[in-house]
Amino acid sequence: MTVEADELRGDAYYNEFYKTGGWKYSLWKETRGHRKNVVKRFGLRRGMRVLEVACGAGLHTAMLTRMGFDAVGVDRSSGGIEWARQHHPEARYVCCDFREMPFEPQSFDVVLARGCSHYHYDLMSRKALHSTATIMRFIRPGGMFIMIIASDLSGQREPDKIWQNTLEDYRRHFEFFGLQSSVDWVDGMAICALYNVPAVEIREAAPREEAVLSV
Ligand SMILES: C[S@@+](CC[C@H](N)C(=O)[O-])C[C@H]1O[C@@H](n2cnc3c(N)ncnc32)[C@H](O)[C@@H]1O
Repeated sequence: MTVEADELRGDAYYNEFYKTGGWKYSLWKETRGHRKNVVKRFGLRRGMRVLEVACGAGLHTAMLTRMGFDAVGVDRSSGGIEWARQHHPEARYVCCDFREMPFEPQSFDVVLARGCSHYHYDLMSRKALHSTATIMRFIRPGGMFIMIIASDLSGQREPDKIWQNTLEDYRRHFEFFGLQSSVDWVDGMAICALYNVPAVEIREAAPREEAVLSV
């Protein structure tokens, strides 16, 4: 499968899926895991402005809000955002494609992308690289991008399934940006970060596929 095929089934699939709240997470497990693997690992401090892209039904954005972060979640599934607003009203949400977010450039300390489909396929495709470049644009100079995604690291690329990218695949993606980065794997999830993101500008007029080259 490609991210394009995933996107094609995207909204209808997720709107239906989120009618019953999407994945059934254990709040206790998610909170414990994110305290250890995100907050402590990357030294995040209460009060930081955190943007969660592809927040789905909002559980993690709400969890970050309750931990004391100034968090906002973005997802393009109206069903996901509706569920989030109804069931996790303590956080703020915006329903839009993360490539068209209505925020000021450089307005977040941290952007978190957890389970974002764009990181499930070819990580060196223009689309995947452009996703990271787009996200970086919303991070203040010195801020951080954290990406978390499920993979068994086997390298399997079966048709009609998400890819199981290896740690080397993730490393290559993040090293492309020429910044300090880290790549780890904990409990079936790749946990990657870009540190000290510089002021990033993307030429607005450039076609999406070319914009990544100006980072
Ligand atoms: C696998 S789900 C993960 C949801 C949530 N982060 C979680 O971990 O449970 C992927 C989410 O990405 C969202 N998504 C995919 N492409 C997107 C895009 N271009 N802009 C915003 N959201 C997107 C989908 O709507 C879906 O909610």
